[in-house]
Amino acid sequence: MQIIDGKAVADEIKKEIGAEVEAIIAAGGKIPHLVAILVGNNGASETYVANKVKSCEELGFKSTLLRFDPTISEEELLDEVRKINQNDDMDGLIVQLPLPDHINPDKVMETIDPRKDVDGFHPINIGRMAKGLPAYISATPQGVLDLLERYNIETAGKHCVVVGRSQIVGLPMTILMQRNTKIGNCTVTITHSRTKNLAEVCASADILIAALGRPEFITADYVKEGAVIIDVGLTRVEDSSKKSGFALKGDVKFDEVAPKCSFITPVPKGVGPMTIVSLMKNTLLSAKKVIYQ
Ligand code: GUN
Repeated sequence: MQIIDGKAVADEIKKEIGAEVEAIIAAGGKIPHLVAILVGNNGASETYVANKVKSCEELGFKSTLLRFDPTISEEELLDEVRKINQNDDMDGLIVQLPLPDHINPDKVMETIDPRKDVDGFHPINIGRMAKGLPAYISATPQGVLDLLERYNIETAGKHCVVVGRSQIVGLPMTILMQRNTKIGNCTVTITHSRTKNLAEVCASADILIAALGRPEFITADYVKEGAVIIDVGLTRVEDSSKKSGFALKGDVKFDEVAPKCSFITPVPKGVGPMTIVSLMKNTLLSAKKVIYQ
């Protein structure tokens, strides 16, 4: 069994991006600029956004954090998005989710210019991805693809089971794993809360991607001997032994599953560190106008 070290891979890719940005700056090119919008003060969102801004600093990107009160109206927020769409210096825009209940996240996503949608959440980017056209791929699924590639994991012809059908992870993951690309060509099954015999379906997977958001749900009986296990889960669970008062748990019961599989991502330091790196990669692609001219 081999542990997939997401932190090490993320550090490696960060170095590559940092070197590229240095070269761009030396040549007088466009410094990538990421804008993050944060509405309200959800604790987890604060942490995620702070980490995104920190990564920008580390890699030589410009970043702008725009904070709004949770009482901002939907129309006011859409106007802010439109302003950023018009600003040629700003390459990428993310609006951190979740948003307050009175704001429709789909409306916000659809207002972001697809050329700046480095989260890959706009229907145009999702549609282009499904068609195999150049598109911004959302960060977590892209991070999973990069881990599989960097660990030379064979995917062609394998049965990939994805647990969870979220718009951000499960759904794009299934589209990506069936594509006719180096990491792809899988026979894919998507499962969800209504799936019958879930353990049996999962136990037929060569590659099992758990993205359901239920801590330690996937136990040894869900796993085939020799399978590749990708754990996308990241849930805060109360833990009085920790200084923070909580521990981060994945969707996979690591201690019991790890001995059965060929590769496994731990939590933390598995898929998590790859997510921000993918966002940075997309922002660089936008500054270089690779996906859209
Ligand atoms: N909330 C949780 N994950 C994400 C993400 O990847 N992007 C945005 N914008 N919000 C999130």
